[in-house]
Amino acid sequence: MQAVYIEQYGNAKQLILADVAQPAISANQVLIKVQGAGVNPVDWMVREGFLQDSGDHQLPLILGWDAAGDVAQVGTEVENFNVGDAVFVYAPISEQGAYAEYIAVDSALVAAKPESLDTLTAAAVPLAATTAWQSLMEGCQLKAGDKVLIHNAAGGVGSFAVQIAKAHGAYVIGTASAAKEAYVRGLGVDEFIDYRSQRFEDVITDVDAVLAAVGGDDILQRSLQVIRKDGNLVSLLDDMDADMAKQQGVNFQRWWVMPNAEDLQHIAELIDNGEIKVNIDTVFPLAQVEQAHALSESQRACGKIILNVAA
Ligand SMILES: NC(=O)c1ccc[n+]([C@@H]2O[C@H](COP(=O)([O-])OP(=O)(O)OC[C@H]3O[C@@H](n4cnc5c(N)ncnc54)[C@H](OP(=O)(O)O)[C@@H]3O)[C@@H](O)[C@H]2O)c1
Repeated sequence: MQAVYIEQYGNAKQLILADVAQPAISANQVLIKVQGAGVNPVDWMVREGFLQDSGDHQLPLILGWDAAGDVAQVGTEVENFNVGDAVFVYAPISEQGAYAEYIAVDSALVAAKPESLDTLTAAAVPLAATTAWQSLMEGCQLKAGDKVLIHNAAGGVGSFAVQIAKAHGAYVIGTASAAKEAYVRGLGVDEFIDYRSQRFEDVITDVDAVLAAVGGDDILQRSLQVIRKDGNLVSLLDDMDADMAKQQGVNFQRWWVMPNAEDLQHIAELIDNGEIKVNIDTVFPLAQVEQAHALSESQRACGKIILNVAA
């Protein structure tokens, strides 16, 4: 099968598109014929070798852990799926990825594709939306009426986070640059902050929770200033001393998304109910994976990037 993989860590020139053996499935796995593979920042971070100390990866490694497609084969112990089912999944990043014609995944992590989405678009959803869901529902303990600040509301995660928070009855403030104001307002934010011309800590106060879907710029320290006593600060990138945050009355967590089919089912329901729209920046054919990585690395994408594996 065709796949994009790396044999060594480094820049986008390390991406190899070539034929590799189709994966064999174990008893608890399904084989998915991939139509679309979502591109996420973790893909190029792994490619660069930023996570090589984790010991999670063995080279050669097929990148990309968001997949949507049809079940092509089921393991002998799989009961929840049949051949031909349309599915999507955020697959474990410790395993071979989805930039490939086929991926083998534990069936417990796989969910039925949202009916209202075509398969390619569904590939944009799993990792980013699951991150948004888990970091808001578990990390921020989000409930109706909460006031929540979402840093990087225009990104893949932030776009889902705004819509998930609104669907749960929150008051949402989102940050992005001025050029993306219309896009972010279209997601449903109640307030928009252009982070380049306004310091958010000068204009907001007493939020129940902050989701930092971006790092740098002292964003966590500054966020402490706008959170009410006993509120929550969840970071997807930078870390901070949780005891120090606690002394300032804030519960801090550095969040790591975990694959979870139940969360994907909740997200699929919101999509099919029309409460989450999936916004795509660009779809690239697999052969243009270098361009797809360049766009993700630019950190300027508006919504999601997808590789069309079937093209
Ligand atoms: N911990 C986890 O489990 C986990 C899971 C998923 C993602 N992440 C991390 O979360 C971050 C966001 O991921 P993503 O997929 O949403 O990224 P993304 O789609 O690549 O984000 C692109 C967006 O970032 C915005 N941006 C850049 N700097 C900003 C700033 N200072 N303030 C506000 N917005 C800013 C850009 O908007 P402008 O052009 O308007 O600046 C652009 O629209 C990444 O660092 C990723 O690695 C972590």
